[in-house]
Amino acid sequence: MSIILRIAVWGAGIWFLLFLWNHIIHPLAKFPGPRIASFTNLWKVYHIWRGDLEKVLLHRHEQHGDVVRVGPNHLDFNSSSAVTTILGSGRLFQKSAFYDAFNALRPNLFGTRDEDIHSTRRRAVAKSFSAQAVSKMEKYMDECMVKFVARLDRAAVHGEIIDIKLWISFFVMDVLGELAFARSFELLDAGPEGSMPPLKEHVLLATISGQVPWIIPHINQIAALLPFGPLRKMMTGRKVLREPQRAVDCVNARRYDCSQRPDLLGRLLGQLEAGHDSSGRCFDIVDVQTEAFGFIVAGSHTTAASTTLLLWHMLHHPETVRRVGEEIQSLTSVDGNAVYPFEALKRLKYLQAAISEGFRVNPVFIAPLMRVVPSHGHDIAGAFVPGGTEVSVCNHVVHHNGDIFGSDLHKFMPERWFDAEFSGAANLITFGAGHRACIGRNIAMAEISKLIATLLSRYDIESVDKDRLEQDIETLELTLLLR
Ligand code: HEM
Repeated sequence: MSIILRIAVWGAGIWFLLFLWNHIIHPLAKFPGPRIASFTNLWKVYHIWRGDLEKVLLHRHEQHGDVVRVGPNHLDFNSSSAVTTILGSGRLFQKSAFYDAFNALRPNLFGTRDEDIHSTRRRAVAKSFSAQAVSKMEKYMDECMVKFVARLDRAAVHGEIIDIKLWISFFVMDVLGELAFARSFELLDAGPEGSMPPLKEHVLLATISGQVPWIIPHINQIAALLPFGPLRKMMTGRKVLREPQRAVDCVNARRYDCSQRPDLLGRLLGQLEAGHDSSGRCFDIVDVQTEAFGFIVAGSHTTAASTTLLLWHMLHHPETVRRVGEEIQSLTSVDGNAVYPFEALKRLKYLQAAISEGFRVNPVFIAPLMRVVPSHGHDIAGAFVPGGTEVSVCNHVVHHNGDIFGSDLHKFMPERWFDAEFSGAANLITFGAGHRACIGRNIAMAEISKLIATLLSRYDIESVDKDRLEQDIETLELTLLLR
């Protein structure tokens, strides 16, 4: 037998056995889904790379129903009861190995799979994310907002076109620098010439490598072998971010600063001084850096992208701009600067409905939120799922579920949030749900509310390229007219 024939026979045999195993014997064989996904997680990698995983998942759920097999050992669910079971069962459903890719120097609050570490860390920092604590930190947001407005005013006066996407991300980064490192990144001062930390690349790389977690310890070697420019860019981005000196400098400067700054770093430093966390586990300077860096990664691109996409929707719905504008007119700004207190913005019904609707349509952290079924197996949305299976809900998919969110799911309609019968609020999972839900929600809500209120009350805004679709927003160029 020639060598080629032998390879072909062996190939066919292996393929047949794999097919038999995946589609007939495997405990997940009965669940429908794309055939290729039952063989390999690379199917998800491919779609994340293309930037369309959430849309493909939505399409697959429309085709196959509420449960879809999207990996050899992975089921994705689309129902309200699955959200409650998977995200709302506390420690029972632990995070999967996908999250290892988000840990930086050591496991952090976002990435850790160890529930004991998670609960002591979460307890330790929860107070600094409370509504009360955020109102104390608001002054740092307002200082950044004054710089933001000054730059935009200049553009308005000179009739300059401005890429608001960029300036929103500068604002968000500078605020997070102030809160997590007690030092702004000074991007609003430097403008486009400043160096924006490559967080987007870091998150994309983590989302991709998290789908095939065995790759994580070898990612540097593998990337060096592959000739992909974009992969190299992601790796370089990560290297820059993991350059620890800046974090060390900031943490040390803050450590010897005697002022009582009410920021996120303060509480971490409290643990550092004690030398251990509340369960007696050692807590050192690397843990402080790890968490502070984790806050920046988790909170920057998410907040900036949510704001930019919301603004995009609003600019395509002049009625929303008008109604939010009317609400804001009733407020008094801080020092007449078009900067508004979050406490007042929270009470603006239409503004808050528009933000919720923006979160529904574009939940930005759209990777499936993956958990592992406890060893004895568990019922999820009426189906028994064996122990050890990875299960997830994807917020984009759930937010486009007609049973939960009603009709016209692809339309931006803040009005849907006023319907008394509406059951959406409990299933709006932009910030996740349950004990691993986003701890930074109050900070994000304050920043987004402030940015939108300031932009809409101070300027008449015109989008330069009105026909650009939301998924193509690489830039969002605007002309501004001072009111
Ligand atoms: C609009 C902005 C934001 C969005 C859409 C968002 C989204 C999310 C989501 C979906 C989760 C849960 C992930 C999961 O269950 O697998 C999460 C967790 C987390 N987020 Fe956010 N986030 C935002 C802003 C922030 C900010 C501003 C911070 C910090 C300053 C932050 C820090 C965290 C942390 C530390 C966790 C892990 C919490 C835990 O496991 O206890 N996020 N976020």
